[in-house]
Amino acid sequence: MPSTWHSPPWVLNDVMSSPTTSPDPLVPHGPASNIVLLVHGPNLNLLGHREPAIYGTATLADHVAVARATAEERGWALDDVQSNHEGVVVESIHGARGRCRAVVINPGAFTHYAYALTDALAAFEGVKVELHLSNPAAREEWRRRSVVAPVVTGTIAGFGGVGYRLAVGAAIDLAQQAASR
Ligand code: DQA
Repeated sequence: MPSTWHSPPWVLNDVMSSPTTSPDPLVPHGPASNIVLLVHGPNLNLLGHREPAIYGTATLADHVAVARATAEERGWALDDVQSNHEGVVVESIHGARGRCRAVVINPGAFTHYAYALTDALAAFEGVKVELHLSNPAAREEWRRRSVVAPVVTGTIAGFGGVGYRLAVGAAIDLAQQAASR
C-alpha cells in the first residue's frame, strides 16, 4: 500500500486516486488474501503530539510499525490508511472487500456518529476489530456510544499502544479459525 496513505491533506488527491481507495463497489470481488487493513480516522495523524496524557507519545507511524510487525510475524501483510475525511475512510473499507481478510479500525471521533462508516463495515465480510488507545467508556458521556460497535466482531480499548498487537493478533486468529472451519 502506498505510504501516501499517511499523508496530510495537501496530497489528498493522491490518496483519493489510489486504486484501493476508490474501487467500484459493484464489481464482483474475489477471494480475500491474508492482508489486514489498518484504518485510522480523524486526528490520529497527530498521535505523539495530540493530548499525550491521554493518547501517549508514540506516533501513528510507531503504532503502524507494531501492527505491521505483528502481522508479518504471522506471515500476513498489513495495509494502512489514515484520513480525516469520512468518505476516504468509507472507501478504504470498500476497497478491503474481497481483498483483505480483516480490518482493524480506530475510527477516532467517527466512532461516535459516523453511520456511513457503520454501513461500510457492515458490508465488509471479514473480521472487524474496533480499536481505541484510550477507554472511551471511561471518558466523556458523548464518547461512550460507538455506532460501529454493533457491526464489528469485537472491540479492544484502553490498552494504549499494546492494543495494536492485541487487535492484529486477534483479527488473524479469528480469520484463520474461520478458514479452518
Ligand atoms: C479514540 C477515542 C475517540 O473518542 C477519540 O475521538 C479519538 C481517539 C482512541 O483511540 O482512544 O480520536 O478513538
